[in-house]
Amino acid sequence: MAESFPPDFLWGASTAAYQIEGAVREDGRGPSIWDGFSHTPGRVLNGDTGDIACDHYHRWREDVALMRELGIGAYRFSTAWPRIQPTGRGAVNEPGLAFYDRLVDALLAADIEPWLCLYHWDLPQPLEDRGGWRSRDVAYWYRDYAAIVARRLGDRVARWATFNEPNMAAYRGYGEGDHAPGIKSRAAVTAAIHTLNLAHGLGVMALREQRAGLKLGNIYNLSPREPVTDREEDMVACRMSDAIMNRAFPDPQILGHYPEPVAAEIAPFAQPGDEAIVRQKLDYFAFNHYAPSRVRWAKDALFQFERVAPSVGVPVTDMGWEISPDAFRRVMIDVKARYGDLPVYILENGAAFADAVDGDGKVSDPQRVAYLRAYLGAVLDAIAAGVPVKGYFVWSLLDNFEWAFGYSRRFGIVYVDFATQQRIPKASYSFYRELARGAPLAR
Ligand code: FCB
Repeated sequence: MAESFPPDFLWGASTAAYQIEGAVREDGRGPSIWDGFSHTPGRVLNGDTGDIACDHYHRWREDVALMRELGIGAYRFSTAWPRIQPTGRGAVNEPGLAFYDRLVDALLAADIEPWLCLYHWDLPQPLEDRGGWRSRDVAYWYRDYAAIVARRLGDRVARWATFNEPNMAAYRGYGEGDHAPGIKSRAAVTAAIHTLNLAHGLGVMALREQRAGLKLGNIYNLSPREPVTDREEDMVACRMSDAIMNRAFPDPQILGHYPEPVAAEIAPFAQPGDEAIVRQKLDYFAFNHYAPSRVRWAKDALFQFERVAPSVGVPVTDMGWEISPDAFRRVMIDVKARYGDLPVYILENGAAFADAVDGDGKVSDPQRVAYLRAYLGAVLDAIAAGVPVKGYFVWSLLDNFEWAFGYSRRFGIVYVDFATQQRIPKASYSFYRELARGAPLAR
């Protein structure tokens, strides 16, 4: 059976600044928390860093050409705050802004709509030294940064996201500690949740002040949770993990309140008036989705929950993440039920597999093609069920620096040889190109 997507369905690809740009000391860029973290022995697999990454800072023309050839209608990238304000506050670093200015012009010339995310985890280190997302001040500095970028690019960029996966920035960065800045504290997580929400609201207001009519949202991360057993303590753990990982951002931003059971713990960080700042009208509901999570009670864990690996025999990707297109379909349906009728965009979905170049210089990645085919089938099912899914962005255009896993996990539809920086479109790139050009999905 072959089934078509709606004619105005938006096909896109996503990346993030620290994962692809490299050039970390060039043109006045300041250090971010990920520079320090990746250079700390033991933090990232194989001691990898984003110092060079995909060298996109120098090779962006080639990368835009790859996208044009792919036929996508939109490209989501992030701006690096430390390139634009090297200390996170005050003076603007003109060459940093100029880089994104050139990129945006090249995208528009290639008929690709730029989707700009203002924050994909690379906080300027000097702001971390002042408390990072634990400190309210950072929300106000973020607002200034958002205004700077909008002033420069708002005439050509219509789609803006305030944050990518703020749940990960809060929980992994300040709780689990396996992401920068590597802190492990329950109070730091709850403080960071509130500061990030506040920054989102302030950012939305600043963007609208700069220019009316921008289309604004936040990129959530949704992974449906299931308790490993129906024992009461596993269910309690599951509710806690759902509140922190899935609901701590969209709930206050769209519904106007923090979810139980963490609301009381976050409340002390809120000041009068914050609730209204956080709850801004959004133009779209965007989220990233990879896999469902199984959760159990863990007495000694920070929030008394921990994730459990999928059972033996369950299909998984190279990250060990369960492959379940049906879980994806259910998330889309839940989004509509819970958050209403905003246009829905999937801004990241994809899979890591251990790709290799074959004797003919080609990269065939049938597992990724199968994954994408199944997950895109779930999108069609969700649309048929009435969910207004308007676009899908694959993660990722390029193999890149996969955070704590360094270069060991490949998510790209374009293979990157990190020794030579050669780009080789994979079979999944050809598969995606057909869809982006209007072919129906064979299911
Ligand atoms: C998401 C991140 C993205 C990438 C994918 C695999 O959580 O937003 O940068 O690492 O996972």
